[in-house]
Amino acid sequence: MTVADHEKIKSTSSWAAALRAAEHSRADAFIDDSLARLLCSPSDYDEITAYPAAPTGAVVVRARLGDEVIKREVGNGVRQVVCLGAGADTRAFRLNLPGDLHYYEVDLPGQLASRDAILANNGCVTTCTRVPVNVDLADNWIEALSCAGWTPRRPTVWVAEGLLYYLPYQLCDQLVDQISLASAPRSSFVLDVPHERFLMDEYARPYRLFLERRGSPYRTALVNPRSWLLRRGWTAQAYLSHDLRAGRCPLLPPVPDRLLNYTDIWHVTARHPRRRKA
Ligand SMILES: C[S@@+](CC[C@H](N)C(=O)[O-])C[C@H]1O[C@@H](n2cnc3c(N)ncnc32)[C@H](O)[C@@H]1O
Repeated sequence: MTVADHEKIKSTSSWAAALRAAEHSRADAFIDDSLARLLCSPSDYDEITAYPAAPTGAVVVRARLGDEVIKREVGNGVRQVVCLGAGADTRAFRLNLPGDLHYYEVDLPGQLASRDAILANNGCVTTCTRVPVNVDLADNWIEALSCAGWTPRRPTVWVAEGLLYYLPYQLCDQLVDQISLASAPRSSFVLDVPHERFLMDEYARPYRLFLERRGSPYRTALVNPRSWLLRRGWTAQAYLSHDLRAGRCPLLPPVPDRLLNYTDIWHVTARHPRRRKA
């Protein structure tokens, strides 16, 4: 991908922040992200919140699910989180994570510094150790992560939210292979990815066209993320909107209809790979 492609993809993180900020401001908010408002410009906020087909539900549901997975795993004693394509994620600042937890944020070079400056200028601090890792996931990011202190011997919570959509399929495959090989037992994974129908369905057409015209098209979608992960040794659960409406995801309360406007986005949780045979 070119530098110009990367710049377009980077800017999508401001929309995610804008959608979280808009949700947070509601009396019946499904997520708690008071910092998101700091991380989107007024124009990003106006652009995406005025957009009738904005993927609000996908962004809000994944944010809540990621919070719940991290809280659960921290409760289980896991002390490494790796957030891939972290963008405007604020969890390291708002989840009151333990001091001995290392929260690695991986994103393209140049992406995290401006967010960090805004949060620092607003007096935001972390209770855990937050480590930015500025690297393209198409490069040797595992080495960069290791150099930053992450250790494959310890279990990790892997987070890939709003990321796989924008990567070529081959890179998603490579990424999940790398994560699977690098995961100690008791690791977990939370991610979201479109169902293949999303790339064809009429209701999603306006949003797909919007993304294509601005140069950040969706590139990857999966028919069955469970088997995609199972092949790599994970036990996974994958939820579409009808599952979430019915309260089938044990980590979430039933998701309100207003957040289920996109029916073909998978929300996926996965648990520790099986021990590899010697
Ligand atoms: C839609 S944003 C999602 C941000 C955040 N995870 C969230 O849910 O709000 C996508 C993020 O992935 C990052 N990203 C995309 N391609 C990447 C790559 N090849 N390497 C590292 N980060 C990448 C972008 O820079 C951007 O911050």
